[in-house]
Amino acid sequence: MCGIFAYTGRKNAVPILLDGLSSLEYRGYDSAGVYCPASGSVKSVGAVGNLLKNIDGLSGESGIAHIRWATHGEPTEKNAHPHRDCTGKVWVVHNGIIENYLDLKKKLAMKSHRFSSDTDTEVLAHLVEEHLKKKKSFEAAVVQALREVRGTYGAVFAYETEPDKLVAARMGAPVVLGLGSHENFVASDPSPIMRHTKDAIFMKDGEVAVITPDTHTVYNLNFDRIDRAAEKIEGDAEAIKKGGYRHFMLKEIMEEPDVVKNTLRGRLLTKNGLAKLGGLESVAERLRGVKRIIIVGCGTAYYAGLAGEYMLEGHAGLPVEVEVGSEFRYRKPVLDNSTALVAISQSGETADTLEAVREAKRQGILTLGIINAVGSTIARETDAGIYNHAGPEIGVASTKAFISQLTALALLTLFLGRQRGMSLAEGKRIAEELTRIPEKIASILKDERKIKAVAKKYKDCRDFLYMGRTYNYPVALEGALKLKEISYIHAEGYGAGEMKHGPLAMIDGSFPTVAIAPSGSVYEKMLSNIQEIRARKGPIIAVSTAGDKMMRQFASDTMFIPETIEMLSPLLAVVPLQLFAYHIATLRKLDVDRPRNLAKSVTVE
Ligand code: G6P
Repeated sequence: MCGIFAYTGRKNAVPILLDGLSSLEYRGYDSAGVYCPASGSVKSVGAVGNLLKNIDGLSGESGIAHIRWATHGEPTEKNAHPHRDCTGKVWVVHNGIIENYLDLKKKLAMKSHRFSSDTDTEVLAHLVEEHLKKKKSFEAAVVQALREVRGTYGAVFAYETEPDKLVAARMGAPVVLGLGSHENFVASDPSPIMRHTKDAIFMKDGEVAVITPDTHTVYNLNFDRIDRAAEKIEGDAEAIKKGGYRHFMLKEIMEEPDVVKNTLRGRLLTKNGLAKLGGLESVAERLRGVKRIIIVGCGTAYYAGLAGEYMLEGHAGLPVEVEVGSEFRYRKPVLDNSTALVAISQSGETADTLEAVREAKRQGILTLGIINAVGSTIARETDAGIYNHAGPEIGVASTKAFISQLTALALLTLFLGRQRGMSLAEGKRIAEELTRIPEKIASILKDERKIKAVAKKYKDCRDFLYMGRTYNYPVALEGALKLKEISYIHAEGYGAGEMKHGPLAMIDGSFPTVAIAPSGSVYEKMLSNIQEIRARKGPIIAVSTAGDKMMRQFASDTMFIPETIEMLSPLLAVVPLQLFAYHIATLRKLDVDRPRNLAKSVTVE
């Protein structure tokens, strides 16, 4: 999704801005642009690299830059940010949506403003122009303009007349100020800032910041100054590199054993069968009184939540509902104070998940987060939570974050289960098996070449069905999502028991089904469903437990996973499916890290 980076200092801004945009590329985007008050603007459709073709004339010691993921207006050069006013002196980059832009545009047009794009963003530049005409300072004009706006923004304004001054603002879309020595930065997340400085201010909604190379001042929308102390950005810029792998996605899959270790680190008291979750300590007593849990998330995080439902109901005895954020927020949910909401989000910025949290807070219930991005908006707004500690995830299709979300949910199950009826023996069994998961994932990763060979065999198929039951029903959904996201092949996930209620009609010799059938309580039921498909000549690709001789007979191809307890089987079963999707997409020569039409961090509804 859109990304912002801005710089003011004493160095040549252009390479700094381009480098910053590159580190935001993981968000997914379709066009890019840069404006330097000293020399003008360059925009292009497609990758940041395309800007290089026209960048020669651009220079200066300050500038604003943007990657855009189209919402209002097609992904064209004309609609790429930065956008300008009529004079060409005020420029703006913006993430979010200005909801009353049509009204504002009409009013501005009546005052003879001419618009050069189809975007909602452009009104911001024209509004500032209006207030500058009233002899206001640049920053006062921005504050006045923002007071007329309804919607969400993370924005940075530049003004040709005061080239070293930038004005940043936040309302509903993240903005971080990076504070350097004789240079300051603004970005939509810390990744482009980290390589320059670790001192940062995470702006809050309704704040406006004015930066020059040597100063930074924060105001509210009444234009009163606010004191804001800097904090240290956590994380490591190096972690954002590919580390020798061809794609971030593969690197991130290969990191999964370590990811599980990092999510578990210091949190398991194996001998006592307990989970020690520092982030939940402040609400531990309130959690004892919780009688119902609602999990919200979007995309992969939602599927992790579905697996969490099975874990929490099966082992902590708590009723759980799982909902996508976009539905929950408009559903008029009935909540009481014995309900807790758990928001799952890798980025911590997904707009629909965030709004679900806000709705829950409006109704006064306890909100928890399972969040990867430290300091992100959802992490800040929830009452308490569990950080994933999975490290930055760059590939748009989520892989290691899913694994860490499942791990965090298993910890939460242990935590809440032991508060309720879970026995010591059961707690120990789960805790001990959790510690073995990293080596078991590692053993699946060693089979990468075999999985690639299966991918090669099926890479040209047009459709796939994924089916599973209980804990591995969400894995079927996630496996299908991985394949469609990065290979653009039609894939559907189904509860295996539902096959005969519709999807079976599609099965023939050219329509493969991926059956997730590890050992466990529903293994035999899965075998029956597999038979139903075989009877219609449908090829079966099975994910099953190592040593399963029966499956070798039934399946056309098999991807094996080590034995584990049923509750943790999704942590293993999803791994071959991630590799399978990865290899199909790379064999089809597709850009797996930046699939078309998708964004990493979806900060609009
Ligand atoms: C986007 C990403 C998905 C991700 C979803 C939720 O659609 O492409 O990979 O699962 O957003 O993101 P979150 O950051 O909230 O986990």
